[in-house]
Amino acid sequence: MSTIEHAVEVDGEKLMQFVFRAVDEVGATLNAALVVMGDKLGLYRALAGAGRLSPAELAEPTGTAERYVCEWVNAQAAGGYVIHDPDSGRYTLPPEQAVALTDPDSPAYLPGFFQIALGSVIDSPKIAEKARSGDGFGWHEHVHDVHEGCERFVRPGYNAHLISEWLPALDGVVEKLQRGALVADVGCGHGASTILMAQAFPNSTFVGSDYHDGSIETARQRAKEAGVSERVGFQIAPAASYSGTSYDLVTMFDCLHDIGDPVGAARHVRQTLKADGTWMIVEPHAGDRVEDNFNPVGRAYYAFSTLLCTPASLSQEVGLALGAQAGEARIRDVVQTAGFTRFRRAAETPFNLVFEAGP
Ligand SMILES: C[S@@+](CC[C@H](N)C(=O)[O-])C[C@H]1O[C@@H](n2cnc3c(N)ncnc32)[C@H](O)[C@@H]1O
Repeated sequence: MSTIEHAVEVDGEKLMQFVFRAVDEVGATLNAALVVMGDKLGLYRALAGAGRLSPAELAEPTGTAERYVCEWVNAQAAGGYVIHDPDSGRYTLPPEQAVALTDPDSPAYLPGFFQIALGSVIDSPKIAEKARSGDGFGWHEHVHDVHEGCERFVRPGYNAHLISEWLPALDGVVEKLQRGALVADVGCGHGASTILMAQAFPNSTFVGSDYHDGSIETARQRAKEAGVSERVGFQIAPAASYSGTSYDLVTMFDCLHDIGDPVGAARHVRQTLKADGTWMIVEPHAGDRVEDNFNPVGRAYYAFSTLLCTPASLSQEVGLALGAQAGEARIRDVVQTAGFTRFRRAAETPFNLVFEAGP
């Protein structure tokens, strides 16, 4: 029998403060499921702009059972997502929450963020097993909520910044796109960035690629729905071997750190770019020192990095595993190791860093 000696005294008050903070976090963890549920069932959309509704009045138009809605809406009220009116027993969705929870065109739109988080949590037992063995877990192996949640999470940020800020921050790129350029969007997922650029620059041609066949199938469908299929092709290809040459612009949105061999991919980008071409790399916002990232955004990204990005890279050849909080210095190192001579930070938002590289 062994005895554990507590040499350090525990402050009871601090212990209880931590426990109650953790209670809040357990509520927040469960709320990820409730937000996804509210989004899928149309509960937020029914509440938005509807004034005060009782659970029965919310259940009726959404075709849901009042008893479930009652518990759901009380959890929302306890979390500050909706406001409860004790006199009438009814609930209101404040206008700010209505924007964040129901307006996909707003940069503040949140359901995709929750959907990818919940999908990641759903797959977490598999990641825990991989953490024992050190093996990877590919992006393609995740549940659909990870893929669709990713698309719905990134699109509002791209809508808000890509055309108006990020591309104009690159040297001479907008002028080329306006005249008619050839663009490769590598690791394009469901093609949110590819389609947005194609809509903004009707004289240019776009080739999206991703190693995940399911994502490419969806990207093709999205391009068709957006009416840009003629100028936007998609191919199933790893970043190290997508086809085509003489690209004016190669873009990588939130995927360089997911790639097992980012240096190999970077060498391929260099070979496929024109001599005066540009490589645009969009990565999660991060400082170079881990302690720079101990904030709410860094916390979410380190969690995604544990559950999605690091396993994805480890599942591929080389398995460099840059992580979602790689930071500028590590990205610069990858880019320069591949032989690029130009590299700079061109733009940033609280969520993203945008780099420009050139041969
Ligand atoms: C976080 S998602 C970003 C998707 C997309 N760029 C976006 O912004 O919505 C990362 C993407 O990288 C892709 N990916 C990972 N490793 C890859 C590789 N070696 N070659 C090509 N794509 C890769 C995944 O399939 C996934 O679609």
